[in-house]
Amino acid sequence: MVKTIEWAGGKVMMLDQSRLPLEVRYIECDSYLTVCEGIKKLWIRGAPAIGIAASMGVALGAQEITAGSYDDFLGKLEPVFGALLATRPTAVNIRWAVERLRAFLERNRQESVLRLKELLIAEAKEILEEDIRINRAIGEWGAQFIRDGDTVLTHCNAGSLATGGYGTATAPMLVAREQGRKFDVIADETRPVLQGARLTAWELMQEGIPVTLITDNTAGALMKKGEIDLAIVGTDRTALNGDVANKIGTYTVAVLCKEHGIPFYVAAPLSSIDFSIPSGDLIPIEERGPEEVTHIFGTCRIAPEGVKVRNPAFDVTPARYVRAIITEKGAFRPGDIRELSRPGPDLSRLRIIREP
Ligand code: MRU
Repeated sequence: MVKTIEWAGGKVMMLDQSRLPLEVRYIECDSYLTVCEGIKKLWIRGAPAIGIAASMGVALGAQEITAGSYDDFLGKLEPVFGALLATRPTAVNIRWAVERLRAFLERNRQESVLRLKELLIAEAKEILEEDIRINRAIGEWGAQFIRDGDTVLTHCNAGSLATGGYGTATAPMLVAREQGRKFDVIADETRPVLQGARLTAWELMQEGIPVTLITDNTAGALMKKGEIDLAIVGTDRTALNGDVANKIGTYTVAVLCKEHGIPFYVAAPLSSIDFSIPSGDLIPIEERGPEEVTHIFGTCRIAPEGVKVRNPAFDVTPARYVRAIITEKGAFRPGDIRELSRPGPDLSRLRIIREP
């Protein structure tokens, strides 16, 4: 499995995904500002991966602080939290990471500033390790949906590169393969940044999983011919009513799936669910720069100079299009997400599939 991000020698090493698959190079971040730049410029991307990057960014930022007390330390960390939160708005995982670290610091407020700095590094590393364990669990639940001989469609990249490892949408594929099932994957290229072509196709090929690349426009035609059995995608933020924000074009795939009677699944850690937001209409959608649409790789112009461009990076798929949300705790109907937010939910009643 490719390493997306790691803490090494007091620095954050991140794989520069903006250059893949042409170049495999790691960027060494020795300041939280470089981590922020990496998130904004998509050196690292994918909801869980940017949550991990944010936690490592906080740990890095903390090392730069000189403070005489807990309150002084926390006050000086505020601009670090703020800068990371301002990088990308749609994925809830950055906010989740910042809130987790705030609560962690509060629980350890009796410790010295020196010790708090060490503890933040350990907690950021734990967030990475935990993400890998969670994705593995998503894979074990989700593998049950992939049958021998199936063809699975995926959109964007919700693979290892988008997480600490295993991916969310790809985890069920990796586990189904381990369990001996043979299936094919179709990757939408995912305009405009081509995460499907550059990242998903690349990492599935590295894993030896048969993958076919298609343009985004092709999915409907293949569904009509009966060539796709199910779709699995990731999410950047899922609302309490089960509406799912994910890479632009996901809504189109979901509507096409509905039309053709193809189950559409979303694979996500519980940390991608925003229990504070009642509906997907309230999810902030990032608008990115026009050059992603007018240029390829930022250098080769493919549209006339001066043309008006819209470039929303995400869309929201209403819950009614989603067959199930596959989490580390089981697969649930989107309409039952609200139940999960209540204290002590009866998971065995809510799960739509048996324990792996
Ligand atoms: O703009 P990106 O590449 O960060 O968008 C990524 C996606 O939309 C993924 O599907 C999502 O973050 C889930 S990753 C497990």
